[in-house]
Amino acid sequence: PVTVFENKEIASRKVAERIAAIIRRKQEAGEMAVLGLATGATPIGVYEELVRMHKEEGLSFQNVITFNLDEYYPMKPKSVQSYVYFMKEHLFDHVDIKKENINIPDGTLPKDEIHDYCLRYEQKITDAGGLDFQVLGIGRTGHIGFNEPGSAPNSGTRLVTLDDLTRRDASRDFGGKENVPTKAITMGIGTIFKAREIVLMAWSGKKAPIIKKAVEGSMSSDVPATFLQNSENVEFVLDKDAASELT
Ligand code: F6R
Repeated sequence: PVTVFENKEIASRKVAERIAAIIRRKQEAGEMAVLGLATGATPIGVYEELVRMHKEEGLSFQNVITFNLDEYYPMKPKSVQSYVYFMKEHLFDHVDIKKENINIPDGTLPKDEIHDYCLRYEQKITDAGGLDFQVLGIGRTGHIGFNEPGSAPNSGTRLVTLDDLTRRDASRDFGGKENVPTKAITMGIGTIFKAREIVLMAWSGKKAPIIKKAVEGSMSSDVPATFLQNSENVEFVLDKDAASELT
């Protein structure tokens, strides 16, 4: 299903409310809420709203376990471009989540340890009970996480090569495309699909052409987000501009 909102502020609030409802329901049941999280510009409003709910409404993250979708490789966690830094800045430093419950792919591993590490990341999600909710953005290549064109629908967590367009889109954060890492560790499409609820968000006319392909184009690994079509538990949450090319 596709839901179009007047603007990203309203849409972000709705998504944050859904996440908060899961956290509260799990709290009442004495269980952990397991969240799959994305970085980038798109989910910032959702995290802002969750922080506000924590500060003003007492929403607690004590029973929350998080797994981030991806991290650049190589990447030091302290670097300002790291997704560790992003998540701390936008969410983790402002709520009461336990450090040991935060999981973000490790961009510092030696290459020959990555394969086993990715299997363990996957297993850790399973051991936590699986993802209750997965937040997604979409890249202009159609990537979800860093599953670039060519990614298989049953792919797992792994080291991938970033598309040239993805590196160009990231160039401002790195002061030039040549500084953007060529690789990343990402959850796979198969990993994402195991989540019980998935919300893909997109804002602005810049995303309108890829949203049209993702929602209405034929399902193909050329546009990995098309694999989300026809899934009962997937919702595309858009602002008017991102939805402007949909028929
Ligand atoms: C980030 C991620 C990516 C982004 C996508 C859109 O963790 O997995 O798929 O969601 O590149 O990025 P923004 O939101 O910056 O347009």
